[in-house]
Amino acid sequence: TNSIPAGFEIRRIESRDYAGVTTALSGLTTVGDLSQSQFDDILAYWDTQLLPGRTDGARSYNTSVIIESATGRVSAVGTVFVEKKLIHAGGLVGHIEDIAVNPDFRGKQLGKVLINHLSAQGASLGCYKVILDCDEKNVGFYEKCGYSRAGVEMQVRM
Ligand code: ACO
Repeated sequence: TNSIPAGFEIRRIESRDYAGVTTALSGLTTVGDLSQSQFDDILAYWDTQLLPGRTDGARSYNTSVIIESATGRVSAVGTVFVEKKLIHAGGLVGHIEDIAVNPDFRGKQLGKVLINHLSAQGASLGCYKVILDCDEKNVGFYEKCGYSRAGVEMQVRM
């Protein structure tokens, strides 16, 4: 299914999502001490990062939340970051980052709806592809979202 389940809505992240977003992300990794004012500063920074040469207000940082309408609870959060490249004639690549569904809301198709939304957003912003890195245990989930294996993730930790 591509449509959002009844009783949920999806929108760009806002200041009031602080508690729900940090809770959801703590199911993914260490959020650490991030105050409401630091959160607000990051959202304000993201808002300033416009894609170059565009007059449509398109931004690099596109973080969305899925909200349970009845309660206002953040059930899921995720980002598509749009990178301006030199290759492919100055093309755009979308990077899906930091996907987390709150444990209370898993298994309701919300993760899939979120990934479909972020992928479509990348396409509508002009990306020629959208990519992500994930654990082996999540490969099946991303395959259900239409993604396929490509390359090998590597890192050096600082
Ligand atoms: N392996 C295989 N299939 C899966 C998995 C999995 N780990 N998780 C879900 N699925 C399947 C579901 O069964 C469902 O199948 P169906 O459409 O045939 O019914 C389909 O994928 C969609 O599942 P959703 O209900 O949308 O998944 P959910 O909302 O529970 O979200 C997620 C999945 C995001 C992996 C969630 O479990 C989570 O937040 N985990 C912890 C954080 C995490 O690992 N995030 C991803 C990090 S990678 C990154 O951020 C780029």
